[in-house]
Amino acid sequence: MVNNIQIAIDGPAGAGKSTIAKIAAEKLGFTYIDTGAMYRALTLKALKENIDLSSEAQVTALLEESSIELKPSQQGQLVFLDGVDVSQEIRSNEVTNNVSKVAAHAAMRAIMVELQYAMAAKGGVIMDGRDIGTAVLPKAELKIFMSATVDERARRRYEDNKQRGINSSYEALKEEIALRDKMDSEREASPLVQATDAVFVDTTELNIEQAADEILKLASERMA
Ligand code: CDP
Ligand code: CDP
Repeated sequence: MVNNIQIAIDGPAGAGKSTIAKIAAEKLGFTYIDTGAMYRALTLKALKENIDLSSEAQVTALLEESSIELKPSQQGQLVFLDGVDVSQEIRSNEVTNNVSKVAAHAAMRAIMVELQYAMAAKGGVIMDGRDIGTAVLPKAELKIFMSATVDERARRRYEDNKQRGINSSYEALKEEIALRDKMDSEREASPLVQATDAVFVDTTELNIEQAADEILKLASERMA
């Protein structure tokens, strides 16, 4: 039994990656690493400092002078930017609507990939994002590409917002998600794409428990 494998989960927004990865990590006793939180933290800082988000040089320099740390917590993970807990702030609409612009820059991504690789090097991790199976952990023992229809993903985000007391328009959310998918999939630097050796998991018709069971089944096959 090999119990320190690396599990990479990639896929578009709202596919269920983080929810399911957190559950699976807890059951396996693995560390859960949400790489999207790192791009969100950098975006938060870039917006605060009025950096030109389309400038690769400015965005890369900003990351070089920043400290972004992920710390496991009971809820899954906390995110610290220059020593300050920004776990809530990075979920704002402003950050969500700008993160794909920031995430497009190759030089900045090269630094992120190094940081993320170091966090996962010892194994026993489930890491989620957009380029984990293709760029960060190309040798991961298990790679999942998780998706669901855009209608279902928008419905989930709508319900998420409602739970948090935020009134949103379903159509606007759907457009926002479709635009982010397009930007993430069409960028030149490590676009969102299914790795050739990834298992495709469609969560459209699966509830959270069923999707988590599917991942746990695949993980136990790889650990056997
Ligand atoms: O949770 P949600 O699906 O909203 O997205 P996220 O995982 O928090 O990622 C936010 C954004 O960061 C994505 O839309 C990508 O633009 C970027 N990202 C990336 O480029 N590469 C990663 N490994 C993770 C996130
Ligand atoms: O991380 P990612 O953007 O892929 O998705 P998420 O934030 O884990 O999931 C978005 C929402 O969909 C959360 O509220 C989940 O509880 C919900 N979800 C669901 O209803 N059914 C699933 N099979 C997976 C997630």
